[in-house]
Amino acid sequence: MCGIVAYIGHRDAYPILLQGLKRLEYRGYDSAGVALLNGELRVYKKKGKVEELENTLTDQPTKGTVGIGHTRWATHGEPSDINAHPHVSQSGKIALIHNGIIENYSALRKELTSLGHTFKSETDSEVFVHLIEEIQKNEHCTLEEAVRLALTQVVGAYAIVVVDQDAPQQLVATRKGSPLVIGVGKDEYFLASDASPIIEYTNEVIYLNDQEIATIKDGALSIRNIESIPTTPYIQKLDMELESIEKGGFEHFMLKEIYEQPRSVHDTLRGRVSAKQGHLVLGGLRQYLHTMINAKRIIILGCGTSWHAGLVAEYIFEEFARIPVEVEYASEFRYRNPVIYEGDVVIAISQSGETADTLAAIELAKSKGAIIFGVCNVVGSSIPRVTHEGAYTHAGPEIGVASTKAFTAQVTVLSMMAVMIAYRKGTIKETRFREMLVEFEQLPDKIEKALQLDQQIQYIAEQIKDADNALFLGRGYNFPVALEGALKLKEISYIHAEGYPAAEMKHGPIALIDEAMPVVFIATQDSSYEKIISNIREVKARHGKVIAVVTEGDAEIRHMADHVLEVPAAHEALMPIIAVIPLQLLSYHIAVMRGCNVDQPRNLAKSVTVE
Ligand code: AGP
Ligand code: GLU
Repeated sequence: MCGIVAYIGHRDAYPILLQGLKRLEYRGYDSAGVALLNGELRVYKKKGKVEELENTLTDQPTKGTVGIGHTRWATHGEPSDINAHPHVSQSGKIALIHNGIIENYSALRKELTSLGHTFKSETDSEVFVHLIEEIQKNEHCTLEEAVRLALTQVVGAYAIVVVDQDAPQQLVATRKGSPLVIGVGKDEYFLASDASPIIEYTNEVIYLNDQEIATIKDGALSIRNIESIPTTPYIQKLDMELESIEKGGFEHFMLKEIYEQPRSVHDTLRGRVSAKQGHLVLGGLRQYLHTMINAKRIIILGCGTSWHAGLVAEYIFEEFARIPVEVEYASEFRYRNPVIYEGDVVIAISQSGETADTLAAIELAKSKGAIIFGVCNVVGSSIPRVTHEGAYTHAGPEIGVASTKAFTAQVTVLSMMAVMIAYRKGTIKETRFREMLVEFEQLPDKIEKALQLDQQIQYIAEQIKDADNALFLGRGYNFPVALEGALKLKEISYIHAEGYPAAEMKHGPIALIDEAMPVVFIATQDSSYEKIISNIREVKARHGKVIAVVTEGDAEIRHMADHVLEVPAAHEALMPIIAVIPLQLLSYHIAVMRGCNVDQPRNLAKSVTVE
């Protein structure tokens, strides 16, 4: 993961780097560091958050119009001052920031050590900067050429930016497998892992392709490929507002993003659904619509919350479109030798569009001839660029590490796809299709209503915040919601939580139930309602504390549960989009009450660009 940022131009680089690192901190927050060029190279780095780096630099010289910055999510070597980036070369003149993993670092390190290089850190990244200097020394070449030659020796994933004290008006950057965006200003350039550090200065950006080397020298940008052939950069206009990446009065990004959901789901539906005109169109599905309709099987790939969205999609694709679906963890799929038949379609789901496991699984499925459809949130990210077709979720930037609005947007897009395919395929009738269009359009208002449970949820959070364990149970469409509720709670509050299909409880987890165990049921009125009532009774018989998410007006569960949270009625296939809202709020409030860092939970990072 890691966030990288760099600046070259006429302004002071340091404040730009610092602000950029704060925006990228969702990508990692083990340590932060900057290198500034102002006649000489100054490198500052510190374990911990960007703020800690900032505090230690208040009385240090930070002048310079060229600089690079890094916020780390450690892969090789513990979080420490020494392992923090930037790393410097043997002479101390070249500095480098790196996002990714150098897989052959150990062999390279051994070789460079035998050539007289000494290493200060335990990171894989440090090898890269020593290698560049070694090549430059032997080949008497430019920094750009040394970086290019280094790429032929390095195996792994990387986005790097390099500065050299002997080339004071220059930055060299390259990438493979990790993202890098170049912002083009007037006589100035900004480089970063995503566009968030750039948008307040320019909306013109270039997404660097794999193994392209960008050099900015004396105010001019040139890009070459690994064969050293110049390529013409494609400048795109960013469609992003500054407000969308700021907290806007909320205490945390996560809370802001939870509350944004009526709007973000509305944006997901916009221009795609009209109940009045009876239409449902996903532009990105046009070219391969027939492949989808005729698919023998759909394989859904994702990780974490995106995998949960895939599980909801499994139910709806099978029920509506009658296509068999397999939902796979991308990280497992990529290391199997999966059987892919002609006519199989793969749907890859990812908020960030950068998850390394998902990317690798896509490449594998592609190499076996599958058609890949992407469902991603970040426009221009890596996954949408390697899929055959796709649909963006349009949820807007999600910054809180715990995914919230991305999940509801993913399920919305996947449900739209399933309903559209089912209708074209003839597995649902016109009346059902039209009913679903109305259901889609009602989603934003129903989410709004679910958000009104906030006060009541705070009260419940207060009651259960000290629990050590929690169970989340649901059936059918609500089973993935149970998994998602449990993931939210464990990742931000560090309470151990398990999500289970409610009927599976009696095959094991029931042994855990006692008076201290909160059990959250997602028990809305759907085809499994009667069954889940029996499961609630089983828990109550063992004195578990039951919190139930139920359909508005439910009279029965109220008498059994300790707390009920009423959400508006909806078609059961779309209920996950509504029922997950109270679970997001519950985790949020519990985490805040336990004093946890909600937006940056320990050990985690937003984009998991390493294996
Ligand atoms: C969810 O709250 C997570 N932090 C995590 O599980 C996430 O969903 C997963 O890493 C996948 O990310 P992606 O959607 O960006 O691919
Ligand atoms: N491998 C590098 C390190 O541990 C970079 C990590 C990353 O990009 O996630 O410092």
